[in-house]
Amino acid sequence: MTAQSDELSGPDLAAGVEVSGIAPGQLIAGHAFGEPVLLVHVEPNWFAVGGKCTHYGAPLDQGVLVSETIRCPWHHACFELHNGAASRAPALIDLPSYDVAVESNIVRVTRKRDHGQTKGESHRPRGSCAPERCLFEERPTTGPESVLIIGGGAAGNACAEMLRREAYRGPVIIIDPDPDAPYDRPNLSKDYLAGNAPEDWLPLHPREFYAAQHIEILSGLAATAIDINSKTVHLSDGSTREYGCLLIATGATPMRLDVPGGDRINYLRTLGDCRAIIGKLGAAKTAVVIGASFIGLEVAASLVARGLKVSVAAPETLPLERVLGRELGTLIMNVHQQHGVTFRLGRKVTSIDEKNVALDDGSRLDADLVIAGIGVRPNLQLAESAGLMLDNGLAVNEFLETSASGVFAAGDVARWPDAYSDLRLRVEHWVVAERQGQVVARNMLGNRDRFDDIPFFWSEHYDKLSIRYTGHVERWDEIRIEGDVMKSDCAVSYVVGGKRRAMATINRDRRNLQTEVELETELLLKPPPAVTVEAVEA
Ligand SMILES: Cc1cc2nc3c(=O)[nH]c(=O)nc-3n(C[C@H](O)[C@H](O)[C@H](O)COP(=O)(O)OP(=O)(O)OC[C@H]3O[C@@H](n4cnc5c(N)ncnc54)[C@H](O)[C@@H]3O)c2cc1C
Ligand code: FES
Repeated sequence: MTAQSDELSGPDLAAGVEVSGIAPGQLIAGHAFGEPVLLVHVEPNWFAVGGKCTHYGAPLDQGVLVSETIRCPWHHACFELHNGAASRAPALIDLPSYDVAVESNIVRVTRKRDHGQTKGESHRPRGSCAPERCLFEERPTTGPESVLIIGGGAAGNACAEMLRREAYRGPVIIIDPDPDAPYDRPNLSKDYLAGNAPEDWLPLHPREFYAAQHIEILSGLAATAIDINSKTVHLSDGSTREYGCLLIATGATPMRLDVPGGDRINYLRTLGDCRAIIGKLGAAKTAVVIGASFIGLEVAASLVARGLKVSVAAPETLPLERVLGRELGTLIMNVHQQHGVTFRLGRKVTSIDEKNVALDDGSRLDADLVIAGIGVRPNLQLAESAGLMLDNGLAVNEFLETSASGVFAAGDVARWPDAYSDLRLRVEHWVVAERQGQVVARNMLGNRDRFDDIPFFWSEHYDKLSIRYTGHVERWDEIRIEGDVMKSDCAVSYVVGGKRRAMATINRDRRNLQTEVELETELLLKPPPAVTVEAVEA
């Protein structure tokens, strides 16, 4: 995933273009005042917003228009066209927006709007938010006495930000033992590990953003216990914090492989883990990745980019077949092999010594560096000892409420009733975690928003292989393929009971996004599900 360059292309929209040449709904990529701009006519209105997504710079004219919003083709962020607001993650920063005038068959972008002053619209402050523009200062407050967020990852950060966007003025406190949080975790196995992204890409916002938003981050401290009766959280420094509402967003921990020599294995979850791996690269020529998971294979690709000779050892016979099917599994393996990766599939690791990884067929792989990506376990200890209802995860209802009043959960820990599949799901997807955090924020403020987004994740391997996956299936009756899998240009539908329930695409980003919209439309036609976990008084 490479951030898009800032080159300007298309017409000069400040000079104007002919109205008669533009169809309703057409996405016009141009520029104005030296910036990329997207112009759209959604009858009867004209809109102009920034042309590049604020997440990773995708060209928004390749996205999909849904009513008066634009969705990003790469990771499905959603922006409001009337003011550029980033209304759904993973983009957390608004687009600039512009005034548009139409006169004598010419439409022109006339002025860049001043953020925060557009017809009283609720603009989310930008990453470099100046304190005087902070919503905290400008808006009245409603909601709980205070909000405590355990975990400053995808879900926790998104919740805190959304509370301020929704004009909540009470205390918002994030607790996290990781001194670097909140940061862009998916990048750890991709550009950052590959050496293509500087570390200053990783923070989700500069620290000044949190100060300006009056979001307090208790860095380096862990929550050690929750007392749901007294609404108190105990911290690792011995102190306690009371809460009005609580979010548990403690994420997950990599599963460990228990073999002789296992202390040589590196795991990748945190920025600290990634720095430690990068620190070992100088002396390493060979690496063994244990596990052909998404993270394992992304790590393999990044180590190849660093010039290492990489082997992947895993018990399955084809990478990712269980999630994506035989065709895509074969493609992914081929692409890695073309980059020089050696696969030792159907094999288990039996031991590790100073220079080698031994497999259960007696063979040994050269390994200056060993990294495992063999799955994660949700961090449930706090929830469990607090007596919250568990269900292979922390059980929540569609409003993301746990079984205790005022206590919510989101992200990798939460198992929720998925409206589309009718399954109770717990997934490990960045976008799902962020959007759940955003829904929790609104519900803490008294809304009753169901979390009913269609699950989405992506994965990147080398320059050529961008996988997008929309929906969720655990097994399927049939796979339908459009395009040519072996040319890395395809859309693969997973069909259950005659209906497409999920789609994976390779280099067909727009198709994936359109499918998300189609699945959402199907969902609208379904009757709302019953609430499945009632919030109960402790
Ligand atoms: C290397 C890597 C690459 C990934 N790539 C992708 C990708 O390409 N696409 C995708 O969709 N997903 C990807 N994921 C998964 C995605 O990052 C997770 O699904 C997402 O981060 C989950 O968000 P979360 O908020 O639930 O947990 P996290 O982001 O893990 O945040 C949890 C936070 O809770 C903190 N915490 C834990 N215990 C405590 C405690 N007791 N007290 C206080 N704080 C605590 C942790 O320190 C952590 O900061 C990737 C994950 C990794 C590790
Ligand atoms: S680049 Fe737009 S959502 Fe990621």
